[in-house]
Amino acid sequence: MTDLARCLAEAYAVALPHRRDGKVADYIPALAAVDPMQFGMALALPDGTLHVEGDADTPFSIQSVSKVFTLALALRRIGSDLWTSVGREPSGSAFNSVVQLESEQGIPRNPLINAGAIATTDRLIDGRDGDAVADEILAFMRARAGDPGVEIDLDVAASEARTGARNRSLAYFMDAFGNLRHPVETVVGVYFRQCAIAMSCRQLARAGLFLAMEGRDPLTGEQLVDPHRARRINAIMMLCGHYDNSGEFAFRVGLPGKSGVGGGILCIAPGQGAIAVWSPGLNEAGTSLAGAIALEHFAYAAGWSVFD
Ligand code: DON
Repeated sequence: MTDLARCLAEAYAVALPHRRDGKVADYIPALAAVDPMQFGMALALPDGTLHVEGDADTPFSIQSVSKVFTLALALRRIGSDLWTSVGREPSGSAFNSVVQLESEQGIPRNPLINAGAIATTDRLIDGRDGDAVADEILAFMRARAGDPGVEIDLDVAASEARTGARNRSLAYFMDAFGNLRHPVETVVGVYFRQCAIAMSCRQLARAGLFLAMEGRDPLTGEQLVDPHRARRINAIMMLCGHYDNSGEFAFRVGLPGKSGVGGGILCIAPGQGAIAVWSPGLNEAGTSLAGAIALEHFAYAAGWSVFD
């Protein structure tokens, strides 16, 4: 049997020297202040076992990793009708790109680019008050992490709201095409808060387990999304989880994953477990540079790939 703890330790050691090679996100001022030398990893298994390395208990801003969870919540709430608001094709563009929205009538390519996540959050709101929806998202993350201490970092949310012209532009653009059901400020207000949720690798890996186990949280026994929906979320993560770097990530790691500009990556190994890594230095596409190296080595050493 593969010694997964050893695979994790080896991957950590290989990636550690690369912490300096990336660049910390600075377009959200509150993120620019994070120490780039931090690096953590956690592996969660369906029996509740957790293996950790490095700064696995330090909370970080999950940023775009949140998009996977709001996608699951939106699918659970409104079902397939979500696909009238957002597509499921890779964009091949940067996470915050606006160009395709014009030629594609305000329908974003997929739920994991910013425009698509904003459209997904808009559908999740479903006529409710923005605060109630932010509370629902936070409660879901706490339950998935098995930790009621998970919080929204309101400084990060405020920092992003102050510098959120690009995201507001995407939202107004979709509004202009009739693809937004709630006021722009309500929608981006929820979106900024979901991105500002702070979690550790340990919490995030635990939170991802339901996607590895056909939509069922193996530790609470709850069926959170239908099995076919969990499979499709994983398919979207594989094809779109790293924007214009998604092909490279699939080529190197071979597992569905989602990056965030806070430096976190959540990776799903269907039937096996979930891995969260965090190191704030990013590559050009906004994926943790050391984190992706660590995942590549872990997946190879563990023999975990959806293409096996
Ligand atoms: O909307 C934004 O720009 C950020 N809150 C999230 C972007 C992000 O994490 C991109 N991912 N790698």
